Amino acid sequence: MQLVNLGMIGGGTVGSGVFHAWQKNGGLMAARLGVKLVFRKIAVKAFDEPRPYPIARNLMTTDWQDVVNDPAIHIVIELVGGTGIAKTMVLAALAQGKTVVTANKALLSAHGPELFAAAAKSGANLYYEASVCGGIPIIKSLREGFVANQFSAIYGIVNGTCNYILSRMKAEGAEFADVLADAQKHGYAETPPDLDIDGHDAQHKIGILASLAHGFWADHHAIHTEGIREISKIDMEFAGTLGYTIKLLGIAKQIAGKKPGVQISVYPTLIPNAHVLASVNGVFNACFVRGDIVGDTLFYGRGAGKDATASAVLSDVADAALDLKNGAKLRVPPFVAHANTRRIVPLDEITSQYYVRFSVVDKPGVLAKIAAIFAAAKIGISSVIQPEGHEGESVPLILMIHDAPNAAMRKALAKISRLPAVKAKPVMLRVENFS
Ligand code: HSE
Repeated sequence: MQLVNLGMIGGGTVGSGVFHAWQKNGGLMAARLGVKLVFRKIAVKAFDEPRPYPIARNLMTTDWQDVVNDPAIHIVIELVGGTGIAKTMVLAALAQGKTVVTANKALLSAHGPELFAAAAKSGANLYYEASVCGGIPIIKSLREGFVANQFSAIYGIVNGTCNYILSRMKAEGAEFADVLADAQKHGYAETPPDLDIDGHDAQHKIGILASLAHGFWADHHAIHTEGIREISKIDMEFAGTLGYTIKLLGIAKQIAGKKPGVQISVYPTLIPNAHVLASVNGVFNACFVRGDIVGDTLFYGRGAGKDATASAVLSDVADAALDLKNGAKLRVPPFVAHANTRRIVPLDEITSQYYVRFSVVDKPGVLAKIAAIFAAAKIGISSVIQPEGHEGESVPLILMIHDAPNAAMRKALAKISRLPAVKAKPVMLRVENFS
């Protein structure tokens, strides 16, 4: 049986997970693939760094160049993370014509075009299944399973930390800060948590999915990104009363019209309770993909963690090993530019429905003034909730708004904020009905 030699850089949580999964199911993979996968070297930070699964001591080195420069190693797995030294490692391996498997979404997001150009130049392949949604095979599905489709929309719950926090806020009626603190205490959220809760991790992931789906590299600077810090218990409750759940959604949607393009964004979104994504709870991820031929499809699973990520890494290793076995370099190119449009539609041009919560003084005429500003901006109100309060005191006023462009909405809210009866910055969340 043909041997394919593996080298790995990173022997921490995910790296040891890959090694463990290979120990457990490497024989099964060999039977399925007709290729024997053999680990030759694993570069680690320190021999005794904490890791959930042991790694064979004789495979370890603390010098990543031992992995990249070993002529017997065919496939280099990069699990270091970040955009610094990881870039040097990936480029060094590609320059030697070695296939690279990476889980590094931040690196791809920041340097995708350069990395894919380097892979093309040396005729090497770059696989990145584990970079988005952990164990869910979403990259392979978009690239191969749905190759016959144009993608009108992809909606993803792609950050497990945010989904965990929002799910607990809803289930327990808890505030964001309390759930975050508890999640950090139990190791479910990073400290500091910014990359996750400010939406950057989700931005990297939806950017990768959108690029693959639409055939142009989405510059992450153009991806409108909002996190979940501003979501409060009261909004979760009012959204529930109105029949919605709040989720952090990555959205990549084709926009037709005079100025077509692709909406690529990340923001907390009200989604109808009846929609399947509303039941994706805890640390789970899900992607809802709408293709013009296949229709609606749904992917669900663990978006992070040593074992789920190892499953995705080894699926890339298997593809790379089959390429080598069959002499089929670039059977599936890592990224193909095929776009008709390369335009990321600015958020101001996007039309959506909205949930808005004002904090207003409860007195006659306030609602009329707010409604008049919306009417002048040609923005329609679809429903209103105002819990009974005491005249003269501040009360929440919740409006659901019909489809309106984001720019018009932003301007109307700025005007409303200046009304003396409006006591705090309005909360505005977009609503997605998946139509
Ligand atoms: N921190 C990410 C999440 C997992 O919470 O989903 C790694 O991308």
